[in-house]
Amino acid sequence: MSRLGVNIDHVATLRQARGEHYPSITEAARISLEAGADQITIHLREDRRHIQDPDVNAVKLVTQRYGKPLNLELGVDPGIIEIAVDTRPDWICIVPEKREERTTEGGLNLLDDENYQKVKAACEKFKKEIPGVKISLFVEADRKTLEKCVELNIDAVEIHTGDYAQAFLQDNPIEDFIERFRSEKEFIESKNIGYHAGHGLTDESLVPLAENKLFAEYNIGHWIICDAVFSGLESSVKKLIEVLESNK
Ligand code: PXP
Repeated sequence: MSRLGVNIDHVATLRQARGEHYPSITEAARISLEAGADQITIHLREDRRHIQDPDVNAVKLVTQRYGKPLNLELGVDPGIIEIAVDTRPDWICIVPEKREERTTEGGLNLLDDENYQKVKAACEKFKKEIPGVKISLFVEADRKTLEKCVELNIDAVEIHTGDYAQAFLQDNPIEDFIERFRSEKEFIESKNIGYHAGHGLTDESLVPLAENKLFAEYNIGHWIICDAVFSGLESSVKKLIEVLESNK
């Protein structure tokens, strides 16, 4: 069975929106792991829009307690790299990051040599300074890019599924995506590198990927937190009505 990584960034988005200490990011990690998540994923962004520095260690303590991996997503920013080295996550997923973007907009551009060298240096530093760490690179399912990936000391690629997920949501054809994901899976797995996926996936757009047994791991965040609002809204409203009723 494929693994599910639960990305809990948007629990922190809600917390940061009001500057409160709830909802608790560690409680989100605990509940996800109790529900069967295979790992917890968080993205420490340069602008700290959701996950904050102390969250990284706090979530790691929870994943450790459950014997499950913490997957830390990061851009190749020197300050963030140091935090990763200090916290020693089990997995590091290197992503491209632009401050002005609403969310990660695509895979790493490894065909640009300057970028490639930065990613290479970060991979070398992580492997040297974090014993046993595993690294994945967030990339498009593009052969030239994947050929650059296999030159590096990495354990997996995470394929950007955002465009596929958009096509699915808009009822556009998805066959070309599925074919590309399949042919690149063969290439990557022939190099003994893991084949993961993430971004923009929902319970529905996950189905064709799972049916075709394309990826060993899926990292999903935004849809889970959105869905959780509606699975919990009724009970939250009832809680407050109970308070009012018992005091009428
Ligand atoms: N994987 C990577 C590399 C990401 O950057 C993100 C978003 O932070 C995700 C997975 C999860 O994407 P979503 O929140 O759209 O499910």
